[in-house]
Amino acid sequence: MVQNAFYKLFLKEISDLYSAEKQLVEALPKMAQAATTPELKEAFEHHLSETENQVARLENIFSMLNENPLKEKCEAMEGLIMEANKVIQNETPSVVKDAALIGAAQRVEHYEIAGYGVAKTFAIQLELYEIAELLKETLAEEGNADKHLTMIAEGGFFTAGINKRAKDIS
Ligand SMILES: [Fe+2]
Repeated sequence: MVQNAFYKLFLKEISDLYSAEKQLVEALPKMAQAATTPELKEAFEHHLSETENQVARLENIFSMLNENPLKEKCEAMEGLIMEANKVIQNETPSVVKDAALIGAAQRVEHYEIAGYGVAKTFAIQLELYEIAELLKETLAEEGNADKHLTMIAEGGFFTAGINKRAKDIS
């Protein structure tokens, strides 16, 4: 009984991630378009292709479970994307907009890192080891995307455009 309820909770978690990833596939091209720094544009474009692959990976997981994703919209991701859209629409100098875009994107990554961490742990508890490995792959990609955004923020464009001393301090 408890096991069944826990499995249902796991299904809900991965359905939430599926909705989140699909929303992100729509949002990332707009974020790439709004970014000015070539490195940041590239990071968004690269993460778009990764995200498309993550959607396919989740579809693979659902078919391994012989289940369909629950029809739930991830409201947290919807909110995070709404915030990113506000950043895109704001009239700010391009370097400041890039900084705000990084902030919005890192919030998205941290949400996903939390979601995949939870889903992976649940899969292990349910002895779905092959699925746990797949979730771990996505978790690693999200972690790398987050670290890459930090590198861009702490690298060239901040030091050149906002604070020349930032590189020495960070
Ligand atoms: Fe993702």
